[in-house]
Amino acid sequence: MSAGLFRYDEWLGSGSPFDRRLKLALGGDVGSGALWEAMEYSVLSGGKRFRPYMLHASVQAYGGEPGLATEPSVAVELIHTYSLIHDDLPSMDDDDFRRGKPSNHKVFGEAMAILAGDALQSMAFETILDEGYVMRAGSVLASRLAAELAEASGASGMAGGQALDISGGPGGEEALAAMHDLKTGALIRFALRAGALIAGSSDLSRADRIGTLVGRAFQVRDDILDATSTREQLGKTPGKDIKQDKFTYVTAFGLAGAEGRLKELLEEAEQEAAKLPGERKALLAAIGLLRA
Ligand code: IPE
Ligand code: IPE
Ligand code: MG
Ligand code: MG
Ligand code: MG
Repeated sequence: MSAGLFRYDEWLGSGSPFDRRLKLALGGDVGSGALWEAMEYSVLSGGKRFRPYMLHASVQAYGGEPGLATEPSVAVELIHTYSLIHDDLPSMDDDDFRRGKPSNHKVFGEAMAILAGDALQSMAFETILDEGYVMRAGSVLASRLAAELAEASGASGMAGGQALDISGGPGGEEALAAMHDLKTGALIRFALRAGALIAGSSDLSRADRIGTLVGRAFQVRDDILDATSTREQLGKTPGKDIKQDKFTYVTAFGLAGAEGRLKELLEEAEQEAAKLPGERKALLAAIGLLRA
């Protein structure tokens, strides 16, 4: 790792220290074997680890201690994975593939998939409030991060956005952005805010702004990819949004409209990121991933 610069490929790729840390969190073997198997099946199946990447990059961009990024990054990835397991359930998006494999409920059944999501959510908070982390980070920071993650995951965050998604009919751009800001933006904003908090910053307004812009860009790109990619490229079933008559950027404004909006959002996010006080390379690289 050159000059302490956080590198995605070294820290978050398959077989990386982050993967090993996720495995460690999943190391429990009490209770139902099937439940642990279902949890591990989805967590260790090679997602992009975008939220952990943003969190590490944010710590660096705010000039914080990189060693304090791991536990909150594990926690946000566990919450994200739980949200994907539940998102794929027949009662939600009814998706048979995820991360290049059959969805959790296709392998373990619906009841076990619900429980795996539930248990991953609890595990996220266990991870942030782990005694070792509380000792290193201090109880004020650790409890603040836990409260922030709880808010970002719940009714005024990801779960609230998922509720808007399943109940929402067509609407304007504002309604779409409001849904994206919760279902996708909340966890990405958490990653940015956690970086600022770990660095001891009291002004979280720029972290919020960047998190919101990146969250919107992330979901607009996901909507574009749904319409333009193959199952092999995506690792999940393409074309679901049109088939299920989902309210997305592409169904509302067309492919060209979505592509134009993505470009604008990324440019704005980059401008904001360039104003942060620390090493911004990793954050700009993370945002740049959304151009591909
Ligand atoms: C998919 O998230 C769900 C959305 C918020 C669009 P990711 O695209 O980050 O999924 P993984 O983690 O790489 O599988
Ligand atoms: C899901 O959005 C956002 C979550 C909070 C899981 P999508 O339903 O578009 O995500 P994919 O396309 O299934 O990954
Ligand atoms: Mg969905
Ligand atoms: Mg879905
Ligand atoms: Mg999608």
